[in-house]
Amino acid sequence: MTAHLLKAEIHCHIEGATPPSLAQAQAAKYGLDISHLLDADGYEWSDFSEFLVCYDAVAALFRTADDYALLTETYLGELAGYNTIYSEIIVSPDHGDRIGLGADAYLAGICDGIHAAREKTGIEARIIVTGERHFGPDSVIAAADYAKRAKNPLVTGFNMAGEERMGRVADYARAFDIARDAGLGLTIHAGEVCGAFSVSDALDLVHPSRIGHGVRAIEDPALVERLVELGTVLEVCPGSNIALKVFPDFDSHSLRALKAAGVRVCLNSDDPPFFNTSLMQEYEIASSVMGFSDAEINGMTRTAIEAAFVDEATRGALLARLDAAATA
Ligand code: ADE
Ligand code: ZN
Repeated sequence: MTAHLLKAEIHCHIEGATPPSLAQAQAAKYGLDISHLLDADGYEWSDFSEFLVCYDAVAALFRTADDYALLTETYLGELAGYNTIYSEIIVSPDHGDRIGLGADAYLAGICDGIHAAREKTGIEARIIVTGERHFGPDSVIAAADYAKRAKNPLVTGFNMAGEERMGRVADYARAFDIARDAGLGLTIHAGEVCGAFSVSDALDLVHPSRIGHGVRAIEDPALVERLVELGTVLEVCPGSNIALKVFPDFDSHSLRALKAAGVRVCLNSDDPPFFNTSLMQEYEIASSVMGFSDAEINGMTRTAIEAAFVDEATRGALLARLDAAATA
């Protein structure tokens, strides 16, 4: 049982956190039929490409700043309900632009949701702006430019998500240069759909402190050693990896081997309802399926907070809360 453990995550896409019930309510609000997106078990898709299409369709159900505030507050409230003290949410201004809302209103709504959730529950949250790789290099550069221009105190990191098979990391490196110059923390999706080369490219060209997923680094022992030496943190999302068939089952998932090799790892939910999971369930699986002890799980939560894109005072307060709970 992990319900009592304090939790933290640094990798969840805000639109990907939409519960099907909220998607249905949003569709009703805008008079849309989304029956093609849902089946009895939740969102309906069959492979990574279809997942991205389904994700973009769900994102298009949020059309105002208030819609985004509701989504953000709903998700953070759920997290706080099972003792999550910190969350980094990945947001994509492109989705705001695509729906005609605009990036500023999109971001303002998400910030309102964070403030409301913090007021009600005490949960701490920060925002990672992401570019979507499948929207092309120009759009990823525009996302980095936007993150820089926004000068929003809650925006503390930059990421690239989307179709990993599109182009090479080099095509997108400029976006990360912009984000680095702006003082943002850097993380990038790699080693999820593509193999170890994608993680190596990310390390060579982006120099991120964290990698989104990175779990296929296990295919190259020299790369695993490099990750250990660099201290790069892998934002591991086991349920997502099984749903997207990166590994056939939890037994063959690389989390255990990566941790045993000394790679810094933490637990995350990615797009929880799309993968029939939750951060709570990821912790439960780590405990009861993967066999991690409470101390090992607290260690991964500590890693998430150590790697968080957050000011040192907040990091210190979060770590103190975690340590106090772990020794209680
Ligand atoms: N966008 C949302 N979820 C994603 C994932 N798991 N990989 C890449 N891009 C994503
Ligand atoms: Zn992700």
